[in-house]
Amino acid sequence: MLAAYAARIDPDRPLDALAVGEIDIAATPGGAQTPDDWVEIEVRAAALNHHDLFSLRGVGLPSEAVPMVLGCDAAGIAPDGSEVIVHSVINDPGYAGQDTTCDPRRTLLSERYPGTLAERVRVPRRNLVVKPAELEFAEAACLPTAWLTAYRMLFVQSGLRPGQTVLVQGAGGGVATALVLLARHAGLQVWVTSRSPERGERAVGLGAHAWFPSGARLPERVDAVMESVGAATWSHSINALRPGGTVVLCGTTSGAEPARAELTRIFFRPLRVIGSTMGTREELQDLVGLLVATGLRPVIDSRTPLADARDAFRRLESGAGFGKLVITTA
Ligand SMILES: NC(=O)c1ccc[n+]([C@@H]2O[C@H](COP(=O)([O-])OP(=O)(O)OC[C@H]3O[C@@H](n4cnc5c(N)ncnc54)[C@H](OP(=O)(O)O)[C@@H]3O)[C@@H](O)[C@H]2O)c1
Repeated sequence: MLAAYAARIDPDRPLDALAVGEIDIAATPGGAQTPDDWVEIEVRAAALNHHDLFSLRGVGLPSEAVPMVLGCDAAGIAPDGSEVIVHSVINDPGYAGQDTTCDPRRTLLSERYPGTLAERVRVPRRNLVVKPAELEFAEAACLPTAWLTAYRMLFVQSGLRPGQTVLVQGAGGGVATALVLLARHAGLQVWVTSRSPERGERAVGLGAHAWFPSGARLPERVDAVMESVGAATWSHSINALRPGGTVVLCGTTSGAEPARAELTRIFFRPLRVIGSTMGTREELQDLVGLLVATGLRPVIDSRTPLADARDAFRRLESGAGFGKLVITTA
């Protein structure tokens, strides 16, 4: 079937490792080990994430696992004809804990098993969430990774209450745009940083109360920082927090090794540093409920047919996108 996949690994030029074309998924290393009792979903829309570029670079994807179909997010049609959203976190069958993001053997689609950038994807039945009629397939496909991550950062990990102030580092990414919209709807004062005035203003257009150039001094310290940029903004995030404040960290787009770890400030103020990754199936269900109840919808940068997925990958790599890059199959 038609798919966008990692044909090999290339740490330096990830798009050189990308292939878009026909592939016999059952014959790939991941397809061959997919359990028989998983259900096959007809993908209507998928969405790109930075994770797909990391995979092409070999981060989390060993060379013996390729060719590997990329993609973590999908919405589509289940075998019984129902419309579904795919929760991408695949737990180890032996995992008994409540919080599925803490399963040390968990995997995301496209890491061990084939991902969602294909006409069909196979997943465990328990990973399906009903897609309400109010959401388009493209909107629903934005939720399982970036939006779920933002939801958990804000509502599960941060400890923020309505009326407090949150700083979102970066304005245009899928996670950042989700954070701005969710935080505004939750009654927080929302500040954003960006390297670009145009993107900063767009974040204000989405609902941020103010934007500041990356690294700029803020009018006052904030209650929490949502950090997905990593090395480039880490010191600023730590310095932006009021004593006792919280930084929630979900990504390292600009690198994972900041020039300064800021250890002294972290213990002396004292600050909380909380890691966050994806979310549970129940949180995805609650996120869907929030969108239905509020009318809030993901910011979609562009919709690209699967056959032209390379164009969307180029845009992802360039960093020029604002919101989610959606891939459509029909
Ligand atoms: N842990 C998880 O479960 C999880 C889930 C989803 C995503 N993530 C991670 O979260 C990160 C964000 O992903 P994404 O897809 O939303 O967007 P992305 O395209 O990786 O990030 C773009 C954002 O980072 C900012 N940015 C990039 N380089 C920067 C630099 N050198 N200095 C300052 N700002 C910079 C951009 O802001 P401006 O252009 O406005 O300056 C933009 O808002 C990625 O690292 C991803 O892997 C983690």
